Amino acid sequence: MDAERFVKKHLDKEGSGHDWLHIERVRKLALKLVEETEADAFIVELAALFHDLSDRKLADDKRMSRLEVEDMLIALSVSENDRSQIMHIIDTISFRGTGRTVPETIEGKIVQDADRLDAMGAIGIARTFVYAGSRGTPIYDPGEQTKGDSAIQHFYDKLLKLKGLMNTEAGKMKAEERHRFMELYLDTFYKECER
Ligand code: ADP
Ligand code: NI
Repeated sequence: MDAERFVKKHLDKEGSGHDWLHIERVRKLALKLVEETEADAFIVELAALFHDLSDRKLADDKRMSRLEVEDMLIALSVSENDRSQIMHIIDTISFRGTGRTVPETIEGKIVQDADRLDAMGAIGIARTFVYAGSRGTPIYDPGEQTKGDSAIQHFYDKLLKLKGLMNTEAGKMKAEERHRFMELYLDTFYKECER
């Protein structure tokens, strides 16, 4: 698929955790969540492939403007109706500050769940430390009541909240398992700190 080739090439070696493998996992998870729903797999797949291209956390040299993303969809001959659905998803799925925007369409809800699932569990933990490393943020700051600005603090700021934000039933089930693993990880982390 041309879209796949473009995104793969563009995000190759991206260093903040938005690399091609993240996109590929989100696409796969999203297509799994489509099963047993009426969602349009084409919209879901393209939105999953394009969802992070204009994310503000993307490395500067990789970040595209919203207009460039839309132009890319035009270049790929995506119809105007499909394009506006895909752009709606890209515009709404990100977790920003208190931003708890939920996309209006089932396709958007699915992509948002898939993106959130990839921020949870073993993969989510790995991504958190890679992101923190890319910013020079420490692993953990035991002196701080709030755990300071650290990778461990990010679990409380975001990762442990994601389970409660899932849109779809299938997503909720997958989130339960990943959530439990993160709790186990934190328990073990603190135990090792005390030794
Ligand atoms: P996405 O858009 O793919 O949902 P984000 O752009 O929010 O994810 O972040 C990319 C990855 O980096 C995610 O796994 C996220 O949990 C992690 N991350 C985001 N902010 C921080 C932070 N302040 N400290 C550590 N990890 C972070
Ligand atoms: Ni993402």
